[in-house]
Amino acid sequence: MKRRTFLSVLMAVLGSTALVSFAYPLIRFLAPSGAGEKTQKMTIRKDEIPPGDAKDIIVNNTPAIVINRPGKGFIVLSRVCTHLGCLVEYNRTKSDLICPCHAGIYDLEGNVVSGPPPKPLQRFSVQVEGENIVIG
Ligand code: FES
Repeated sequence: MKRRTFLSVLMAVLGSTALVSFAYPLIRFLAPSGAGEKTQKMTIRKDEIPPGDAKDIIVNNTPAIVINRPGKGFIVLSRVCTHLGCLVEYNRTKSDLICPCHAGIYDLEGNVVSGPPPKPLQRFSVQVEGENIVIG
């Protein structure tokens, strides 16, 4: 192999490597999180969560909470605060979810009531089938 050919091949390989190393993180950043992931279904018995109670679970690697809202039924919300990602806590006495980091407050629909969170909590699908709650 001639020196000129070798240098051309070397530059092409280095250029391709540099392009991939810049493009891959950009594509990962721009792709919506969870895109293409299939939602994993899980089942919980209804009697594990009486009215007014809640249970922490993990849905598709996301910390979440199942809340049995009196008179409204079950809801499953992500516990990941939409401000900076701290985990919200269920406040049974005030019937809301509070973020311990910057005092963001969400209602039991996941909507922002006050504080810095820019958008509602992510909501997961939930169905009651007989004695079970099917999530996902
Ligand atoms: S991280 Fe939840 S309010 Fe800031």
